[in-house]
Amino acid sequence: MIEFMEDSQIYQEVGEAGFTRLVEAFYRQVPADPILGPMYPANDLEGAEHRLREFLIFRFGGPPRYVEQRGHPRLKPRHFRFAINQAARNRWVELMNRALDEAALPEPAAARLRGFFAEAATFLINQAETGSSR
Ligand code: HEM
Repeated sequence: MIEFMEDSQIYQEVGEAGFTRLVEAFYRQVPADPILGPMYPANDLEGAEHRLREFLIFRFGGPPRYVEQRGHPRLKPRHFRFAINQAARNRWVELMNRALDEAALPEPAAARLRGFFAEAATFLINQAETGSSR
């Protein structure tokens, strides 16, 4: 049994189809979500889904189409215009964990993705919780 996998090998296990399933399962939950729904472009959820899928494919060893189309990811500054507090971070991770369950990707790739999402989402927090300033 494989217990550890380099990030660059994950794409070959998960494939285009696996990443497509994952982001589709994530974005299906977004519009109805009271925290995340209003943050995403209602008229371009397909575009948002495409950007996240291409980023993940690039990040985990697949073709670098994301970088060709969008340049260096720079995720932190690209998220500055969204107010990401702990609650938004937690909700994002919750929806993604549900999507991971649904997509049923092979292990150990799925566990690595779960860990990556939790860490990346924490890194993207850019707002203190409202009402907790003192
Ligand atoms: C912490 C909670 C997060 C929130 C609230 C959030 C919210 C958003 C929103 C509203 C967008 C704009 C949608 C679009 O039109 O592309 C976006 C873009 C994006 N997000 Fe997040 N995000 C979060 C975490 C993450 C994480 C953990 C990742 C990495 C796995 C990520 C990767 C991306 C990417 C790649 C884009 C497209 C950037 C671009 O090319 O312009 N986000 N995010």
